[in-house]
Amino acid sequence: MIIKPSIIGLGYVGLPLFLKLQKKFNCVGFDNDILRVKTLQKGLDANKEYTKKELHLKNKSIFTSNIEDLKESNFFIVAVPTPVFQNNSPNLKYIKKSCQLIGKVLKKNDIVFFESTFYPGITENYCAKLLEKYSKLKSNKNFFVGYSPERINPGDKEHSVDKINKIVSITGLKNLKIAKQVYGSVTKQISLTNNIKEAESAKVIENIQRDLNIGLMNEIYKVCYKSNINFSNVIKLASTKWNFLKFDPGLVGGHCLPVDPYYYSSFAKKKGIKTEVILSGRKINNSMYLFMYDKIIKEIKSFKLNLKKTKILVLGLTYKKNVSDIRNSFALKLYKLLKKKIKNLDVCDPLLAKKKVKNINILKNFNVNDYELILNFVDHDIFKKKILKIKKINKKYLDLF
Ligand SMILES: NC(=O)c1ccc[n+]([C@@H]2O[C@H](COP(=O)([O-])OP(=O)(O)OC[C@H]3O[C@@H](n4cnc5c(N)ncnc54)[C@H](O)[C@@H]3O)[C@@H](O)[C@H]2O)c1
Repeated sequence: MIIKPSIIGLGYVGLPLFLKLQKKFNCVGFDNDILRVKTLQKGLDANKEYTKKELHLKNKSIFTSNIEDLKESNFFIVAVPTPVFQNNSPNLKYIKKSCQLIGKVLKKNDIVFFESTFYPGITENYCAKLLEKYSKLKSNKNFFVGYSPERINPGDKEHSVDKINKIVSITGLKNLKIAKQVYGSVTKQISLTNNIKEAESAKVIENIQRDLNIGLMNEIYKVCYKSNINFSNVIKLASTKWNFLKFDPGLVGGHCLPVDPYYYSSFAKKKGIKTEVILSGRKINNSMYLFMYDKIIKEIKSFKLNLKKTKILVLGLTYKKNVSDIRNSFALKLYKLLKKKIKNLDVCDPLLAKKKVKNINILKNFNVNDYELILNFVDHDIFKKKILKIKKINKKYLDLF
């Protein structure tokens, strides 16, 4: 069998996978965002993860928005968003649309893998059913579904898609072999399983564990701050115990940690379980920026600066360091809140693709001498040199934590 893979959704997850796969297979990179496809065709990645050279395609691989180009594919990989609604319940509209799309071109013996973050059962009980509906084929007989959770960490060059262990799950030995061939061209480390629900569970609980650990650090940070106890020194001392796990406090944004606990909790609820521990991490992490707001205002006042006159600069607005992504950014929420109180509050983030985020003018560069105080919200590597200079000239400066 000649494998003809296609990736549906060319975002932070789909594009790196596609770029790896297209080195070995004639691969179709499909996105329904025509602008995204056009810019990728020109060799430009608005997410700033890849250079023009890296976006140069080998073989007969293509970027496309045309469903006709998917007709010959026999191995689909779906990497579209799985956000939550305002009330934090799972929003599967992008998944539904993708299944609708694939259903139109699905053929006998095709395989459809999902990489988006799910709760247990979405692949087999939701996606497979939709694919059946739109293709009129039968799952596990005429076509097969699989799940391979994505562990990619944007902005992290060390744990790129080719260097991390990938869980690959699908039923049937033959399908596992085909999946191994495809994913084996992405990374050498694969954990194969024929239990899809276990793979779905594994992904979501990895993120929950991290969210809870950061939540715990955030809570301890608050207590230390209020009691004038140095948090970093406390952690250094605690880390001398052999089984202490070190995590940093932080503003946990993005679309994984702030979303995944809700996916799992909604699944647990269906099983009659109220997840109190899992959601407690989210509760504290969602409100951490409010604590930071009070802390910053208090510290600015301790500098005896006038909030109506002083020129202050914020560094970084994205949801975490070294990424261009602003979605679910608590740095942005914090900035907006401070802006109501501080008249001359500028913000600089050279990594952001957009120049403006809803009425906020974002500077690409800045002159240190224009500001009396610099607040470092997101520690992008690109700021390192300037921060050294700021510290050298004894300019007033605050790190968030
Ligand atoms: N970004 C991460 O760090 C990360 C890490 C691990 C897992 N995930 C999960 O992977 C999934 C994708 O996340 P992402 O960050 O890559 O999202 P993204 O928003 O960066 O990219 C998604 C892409 O899918 C496209 N798309 C949406 N609907 C489509 C459709 N019907 N047909 C074709 N294309 C469509 C969008 O235009 C977009 O380009 C989510 O479930 C997320 O939770 C993300």
